[in-house]
Amino acid sequence: MVQRVRKAVLPVAGLGTRFLPATKVTAKEMLPVIDKPVVQYAIEEALAAGIEEFIFISADGKEAIAEHFSPHPALEKALAEKNKDAELKLVQGATLPPGAMHIVKQPAPLGLGHAVWCGWKLVGNEPFAVILPDDMVLSKTPCLKQLIDAHAKVGGHVVAVEDVARDQTNRYGILDVLSDDGTLAKAKGLVEKPKPENAPSTLAIIGRYVLDPAVFIELDKKTQGAGGEIQLTDALNKTIGSVPFHGLRFEGKRYDCGTRVGFVEANVAFGLALPDMADRLRPLLQKLLDAK
Ligand code: UTP
Repeated sequence: MVQRVRKAVLPVAGLGTRFLPATKVTAKEMLPVIDKPVVQYAIEEALAAGIEEFIFISADGKEAIAEHFSPHPALEKALAEKNKDAELKLVQGATLPPGAMHIVKQPAPLGLGHAVWCGWKLVGNEPFAVILPDDMVLSKTPCLKQLIDAHAKVGGHVVAVEDVARDQTNRYGILDVLSDDGTLAKAKGLVEKPKPENAPSTLAIIGRYVLDPAVFIELDKKTQGAGGEIQLTDALNKTIGSVPFHGLRFEGKRYDCGTRVGFVEANVAFGLALPDMADRLRPLLQKLLDAK
């Protein structure tokens, strides 16, 4: 029987250099898409997928993330006194239950692999999810739930993948595919950020993973990879052979909020997905395009 996935690791210790100066004192993950910080979408997706414990891999200056998911008695009291019930619900809805949130400080940004390794003690020896909040997914079924459902069938590592343009392979971990049924692609290897001409496929890993804890043994070796960083992809690659590795072509559309264009695109797409905004937003967007 495959063990249930109860815990999620959320690496949020990166510097967010692509959003300077906005990220000089504000964590990148706290930038809002419409009216919610990017990281809240990740938490809501994980809750909808049955995750019960959240392990943030954080850094100095990112304290606002933990504060955002904690109770705010003064604000709650003020809203209650003004009978602002809907607003109070929004504030309380962004609060995680006591004990559900853990914070681990990554001492230095040594890479995504190192960030995940920092969660080892809290994850222990059970399958776990990794969510990179930068990647936002609009889908009917939460992307992480799709992965967890697939994991219940095939076990091992199951990661979200999508086909990217060949000239983009150097931005992703890419699968070397052994077999592919159109939904699940079984990998015989992985390459981190290959040049387009060296990429074994165009199937790229995006920021959602369900991982077997065996990956921690490899991460513990602290081997540096591309860019001198400890890469999660490299550690996963080393476990292939002893742990099955599948890429899931998930249903839904991913937005890369780690880039400025992707961030604007996500704001527009998530706005268009909100019934109370779509009708007003659509003609405004059309007007902007027509004025060009
Ligand atoms: P990115 O490289 O995309 O994010 O890392 P970044 O470093 O914050 O952004 P830029 O490139 O400077 O603009 C992918 C994810 O891994 C986390 C980041 O927080 C992000 O969620 N990460 C990366 C860590 O937690 N620690 C690291 O050492 C590296």
